[in-house]
This record gives sequence, structure tokens and C-alpha cells, in this order.
Amino acid sequence: MAFGTITVYCGVAAIAIFLLRRLYLRLAHTASEHRSQLKLRNDSTSQEKIDVAKAYEITPLADFDWRAKEPLKFRSFKPKYHLTMGISNVSLSELIEMDHNYMSRMKLRKQIIEDHHDTVIQACPAITPALDELYTWLTGSYLPTRFPSMFKLSPTHLLNLVTSEPLPLQPPIDPIHTLELLGKNLDDDFLLLLPCDGDQYELKGFITCFPSGFNTKDKFGMTLKDIHTPVPGYKEKLERSMDRFFSRLEVGRVVQRSNWAITTHGRLFAASGTHLYEGEAPEPEDIDTFLRCERQLLHRLPKSKALVFSFKTYLYPLSDIKNEGLGENLAQAIDGLKEGSVPAMHFYKRGVVWGDAVKAYLRAE
Ligand SMILES: *[C@@H]1O[C@H](CO)[C@@H](O)[C@H](O)[C@H]1NC(C)=O
Ligand SMILES: *[C@@H]1O[C@H](CO)[C@@H](O)[C@H](O)[C@H]1NC(C)=O
Repeated sequence: MAFGTITVYCGVAAIAIFLLRRLYLRLAHTASEHRSQLKLRNDSTSQEKIDVAKAYEITPLADFDWRAKEPLKFRSFKPKYHLTMGISNVSLSELIEMDHNYMSRMKLRKQIIEDHHDTVIQACPAITPALDELYTWLTGSYLPTRFPSMFKLSPTHLLNLVTSEPLPLQPPIDPIHTLELLGKNLDDDFLLLLPCDGDQYELKGFITCFPSGFNTKDKFGMTLKDIHTPVPGYKEKLERSMDRFFSRLEVGRVVQRSNWAITTHGRLFAASGTHLYEGEAPEPEDIDTFLRCERQLLHRLPKSKALVFSFKTYLYPLSDIKNEGLGENLAQAIDGLKEGSVPAMHFYKRGVVWGDAVKAYLRAE
């Protein structure tokens, strides 16, 4: 009796196992077919679009002499100011620009990091994987490949040949220290953004020694659109396309834009003061005045998928602009701030403070 029941059970179990096995094999087959279709699709899209491996082949600047390299000249001012993204593609090799200001900038950046540490550096724990990815790539690959005359890789460290300081190849445990290392070795400011809900990106870590008129710490943790709240016209003219652009930027693509402003001082660290907000009274100032431009770049890290917004700041004495014969062009561009798509830009850029004096200087014989 008992044996008979067991036999029946065994028979049922055997059939059940047989059927389950067939089902499993079928599912596994479908899954692998599905996977290979996905792979095919990925391969074909990556061929049409960006070849990431190729994008990451960095072109060396073999005999590069930073002491002999003039800073890039950005003269992007136009007769009428239109608020646009104004981007162009550059290669990953061009991510970092070096020039004869390197040594003096490094000294200045070290001093600023010491004096204004928490204003210029912030990081939340969530940014560590992305920051480590950026640091490891820069030190272990990009810098020694692109600038072999400035950075030399050894099995244990990266040697900065200009300052004679070694950098560890492993990023420090504390992301703040990692940002300090970047800040003291590169004349570029870095802001790292991670996706939050929807297609919004949030600022989760930064080193900005040369903020231009705002305190980056006040923007820490903010979304892209909240960061830009004070910019007149941003919400109406740029917010949607910027959000879309940021969420869609492909790995391997690097975009560049530049901006311009007039500053009535030569300080690179300016955590306040290049913008004027409604209610602030303009004060007359002496003319010690510069054209200030940022070369801004945006790219996405391949593993963490974080976005890296980096920029290098250029200051040009107004006499340079005049000597190049561009005095009238810049004077027109200052008036053009009022005549473009966002007339409030003239006030925001503090044109009311320096506009007349600067134009008079630029137009004087
Ligand atoms: C294909 O791309 C998707 C989305 O980018 C990714 O999740 C998936 O793992 C990729 N599949 C293969 C087989 O590479
Ligand atoms: C920049 O690169 C992207 C991605 O490869 C491409 O779709 C776009 O057309 C390029 N833009 C210009 C202006 O070349």
C-alpha cells in the first residue's frame, strides 16, 4: 500500500521534473536569443554613434612645453547677446588645456584651497565611485599620456614633473582629499553631477577654486535648474533643452562652450560679486578691468555614468582686447547685452556698474 503510493508519487514527480526541465530549457533559450538580439542592437547603435574605445584613445602632446604655451584666446562676444547653449564637439584628448600660467595657478589654487576650503570643495558620499573613476582615469591614463612632459607614471604613483610632487594612483578614501589632489594639480575646476528623479541632474561634488560671482557651496545638492534660478531667461529659454541635453549626452562625447563677463577686479576666486541681483545698488568702481572667460566642458564617465562639468578660467586685461583691434567689437557686445534675447542680462552682468566706463576705455584712441 505504502510502496504503491510512493511509486505513483515518484511517477508524477518524474513527469513534473521532465516538464519543468523542458520549460526551463525553453526559457533559457529564449533569454539567450533575447540577449543576443540586444547585443546586436547595441553593437549596431554603437557603430552608428560614438566609438567609445576610439574616443578614449588619447593623443599625446609629445614635446609639449607648458612654459612656452600661450593661454587660449576666447573672443566669443557677439553684437547681440542670445542665451543659447552654443556648444561644439571636442575630443577627449582636449579635455584639459595647459599653458604658461600653470605654476602660478597651482600656487594660487593651493592658497585658495587652504583659505576657503569648504567654499571651494564639497562632496557627498554618493559621488565617491564617480570621483574615483575620474581620478583613476586622469592619473593612471589621461595625464601621463596627453602630457608626458608634465606627468610621469611609475608603478607606484604619478609624478608631477612640474611641482615634483607624487600623486597616488589609488584615490584617497575620503572624496574631499581626492578633490584636493585634483585641485592642486590641474588648473581646471570640476563639478560632478548624478541623476536624481526623472531627467534631472544634481551637483554632488565639486572643486571650484575660481567661482565666477557665486558661491558654489550654495549650489551643492541642487538640480541643474535650481542652480540656474538666478540666471535671467534661463527658465524660459534654456531649461528644457539643457535638462534634455544633460540626460542624453553619450559616453565618449565631449562638448565645449565658452562664456564671457567683465570683471572690475583681477581676482580669480570670486565667490560673490560678478552678478547684480534685483535690489542691489550698483556702486561706482575703479577701472581695473578684465574680460573673464570660462572654457566649459561636459562629458559623461563611462562606468558610473556621472556627468563631469569642468572649466578653465581665463582673464584678459582689456588692453589686450584693444591691442587686438577688438575694442569696438567688445563695446558693441556690451550694448548688445540689452538688445538680445534676454535684455535683463545687462543688469545681471553688472553692466550698469562698469558699462559706460569700460565702453569709453575701449573706444578711446
Ligand atoms: C545593451 O544596452 C543596454 C542599455 O544601454 C544595456 O542595459 C544592456 O546590458 C546592453 N546589452 C548588451 C548585451 O550589451
Ligand atoms: C557632435 O557629436 C554628436 C555625437 O557624435 C553628433 O550627433 C553631432 O552631430 C555632432 N555635432 C557637430 C556640430 O558636429
